[in-house]
Amino acid sequence: MKKIKTSKNSETIMTEIVCPNDTNPMGILQGGRLVQWMDIASAICSQNHAEHICVTASIDSVKFKTPAKVGDIITIKAKVTRSFNSSMEIFVQAWAKKILSQKAYLINEAYFTFVALDDNAKPAFVPAIKPSSEAEKKEYLNALKRKNSRLKNN
Ligand SMILES: CC(C)(COP(=O)(O)OP(=O)(O)OC[C@H]1O[C@@H](n2cnc3c(N)ncnc32)[C@H](O)[C@@H]1OP(=O)(O)O)[C@@H](O)C(=O)NCCC(=O)NCCS
Repeated sequence: MKKIKTSKNSETIMTEIVCPNDTNPMGILQGGRLVQWMDIASAICSQNHAEHICVTASIDSVKFKTPAKVGDIITIKAKVTRSFNSSMEIFVQAWAKKILSQKAYLINEAYFTFVALDDNAKPAFVPAIKPSSEAEKKEYLNALKRKNSRLKNN
């Protein structure tokens, strides 16, 4: 029987500080660096859920909402919305916090799809997700529509 887990089991929170080497000449965090951090957070999340090595299959709905600046503290949260056979959809959000004001604001959100691999690098079955809250149930239902639409656009 397929193992069932909640998204709380693998929810991942990662923090970074924006250093000069992460920014453009205006001191704004580079988009690619932020997506790299989000990819790492979602890799940790998917691997803890799957209990397998996982690879990024796709990244979609990436929204850069507000710039982060040098010195800001970045917090990234990654959570599995739903798993299928070997793939998992991970919702990732990132916030930037100003040290002096301690104010945090949402800077990015995106959906990552990770695929679990077995020892022969072939897709491996992953545990199912049991959504708990109303918000999780909504994300769970919509995850199937998003999966179908991203595969159609491949
Ligand atoms: C992702 C990958 C493993 C899929 O392998 P594949 O042989 O095409 O596997 P399948 O067609 O059997 O699909 C396996 C799963 O991946 C999903 N998938 C495949 N391509 C996808 C895509 N572009 N976007 C989202 N999901 C995708 C399928 O829907 C399927 O999910 P399911 O098992 O839950 O139904 C393969 O394409 C790959 O290795 N890509 C490169 C990954 C990589 O290098 N990432 C960056 C470094 S981590």
